[in-house]
Amino acid sequence: AAVDNAPAIVVGSGYGGAVAALRLGQAGIRTLVLEMGRAWNTPGSDGKVFCSTSAPDERSMWFRTRTEAPLATFLWLDVVNKDISSYPGVLDRVHFDAMSVYVGRGVGGGSLVNGGMAVTPLRSYFKEQFPTVDAAEMYGTYFPRARSMLGVNTVDPAWFESTDWYRFTRVSRAHAQRTGLKTTFVPSVYDFGHMQREAAGTATRSALGGEVIYGNNHGKRSLDKTYLADALGTGNVTIHTLEKVRAVSRAADGSWLLTADRIDHTGKVVETRQYGCTYLFLGGGSVGTTELLVRARETGALPALPASVGAGWGTNGNVMLGRANHLWDTVGANQSTMPVMGIDDWANTANPVFAEIAPLPTGLEHWVSLYLAITKNPSRAAFSYDSGTGGVRLGWTAAHSAVSVAMARKLFDRINAANSTIYRYDLFGSADKVFADDFTYHPLGGCVLGKATDDYGRVKGYSRLYVTDGSLVPGSIGVNPFVTITALAERTMARVLAEDTAP
Ligand code: FDA
Repeated sequence: AAVDNAPAIVVGSGYGGAVAALRLGQAGIRTLVLEMGRAWNTPGSDGKVFCSTSAPDERSMWFRTRTEAPLATFLWLDVVNKDISSYPGVLDRVHFDAMSVYVGRGVGGGSLVNGGMAVTPLRSYFKEQFPTVDAAEMYGTYFPRARSMLGVNTVDPAWFESTDWYRFTRVSRAHAQRTGLKTTFVPSVYDFGHMQREAAGTATRSALGGEVIYGNNHGKRSLDKTYLADALGTGNVTIHTLEKVRAVSRAADGSWLLTADRIDHTGKVVETRQYGCTYLFLGGGSVGTTELLVRARETGALPALPASVGAGWGTNGNVMLGRANHLWDTVGANQSTMPVMGIDDWANTANPVFAEIAPLPTGLEHWVSLYLAITKNPSRAAFSYDSGTGGVRLGWTAAHSAVSVAMARKLFDRINAANSTIYRYDLFGSADKVFADDFTYHPLGGCVLGKATDDYGRVKGYSRLYVTDGSLVPGSIGVNPFVTITALAERTMARVLAEDTAP
């Protein structure tokens, strides 16, 4: 088959891919981005680009016939998930033996479906996780650059204190304070000016309309509106959608060869394309990138890849849980989908946890305080190649998740004791399941910086091959990860453009 050549190819259009594409384009390097999801820029028959969480349709999930939302049930009723028709929807849940991973699919990757929380990690923990990275440079240059490019802003504290839409957060804050715990505001890429206009009735509701995991129709500064819009604006970047890169190999002259399957809306492969490039940037996310590289090594396509490719994977210690409040502690029928506060007990060295106060917008009072806890779980797992399926398996076990649960339980037992409250037993499918420990929103690792790559994301064993996404982060960063992923990608691109691509 004919080979399409570009100087640079970027696989994936999430945070790592978007930063690479923009900086390559600005440097005058013609760049092709290959993204397996669709572009989310044209409305469906209802006039909306994305469907709502309350009435999900085919746009909600990646080739499913039923949605797989994180909350399986509510009041023991199977009211959350809905039958849908199969389609390249925006949210995927990738299942491994004992862990499933939520990821975004489309131009913008995870930015299309995530909660927008834009948190810079604690400097001391960043240094612990990235001992070879110059923290002064990260906190002086790359974190500020990432935040400004992503459009990070903060909720107006006065509005926060007075609005109905954050009553659920204030209730959880009061419970944390009664326990003697510290809370902290978390910044967001959701435009709070837009949110306030939604509350005032002068803008169409999105965060205040229950939209988040299946996409926001308004208000959110997802990557297609920031980095990727700028990348296309350079005139040097092209994005191909619905093209999934399946194989990577190297030609005799040292250039890269890619095989990509182009799919239609039914998932059928309508064409298999070959691409060639000089510089290859992998931004498929922790699972996507690691799978490509593990497969390339194990099938003999790239035999010089180190054994550390596939290793060092973790869930960022994610656990979700709900507490049942007293009848007088109403959380409100109105809840913004964008979290703005966390319970910060990371400094508690005996049991470090950062717990986001999460919304549960149902339009009804339900007395649930929901949390996504980020625990300092030291467990790490590895991906291995499954020659039977051509995919990868993940060595994460239930015992690994139990470590996160024990840490979350320690913190929330204290909160329950201080407030005379109990857990909710009706949210995760069965009455003995209080902690949802079988999924993560924060897959991290697989091609860890300084192990599978050099200190700038250059993959060991080859030249002109780079990883720019969440695979670089060693399994845990203590906060929501996209600001870290973006800042590390900025740092990699600055170095690579200065050292590797000069003529
Ligand atoms: P990312 O997953 O964003 O992008 C990878 C892209 O590559 C995807 O578009 C994918 O389709 C594509 N791809 C993969 N393999 C491919 C292949 N072989 N060929 C072609 N394309 C391929 N974080 C945070 O900081 N704050 C938050 O509030 C939240 N909330 C949150 C909620 C939910 C529901 C989810 C699922 C996730 C979050 N996150 C989050 C996590 C955050 O979204 C995540 O860490 C980043 O999106 C990861 O960025 P990457 O660049 O690593 O990959």
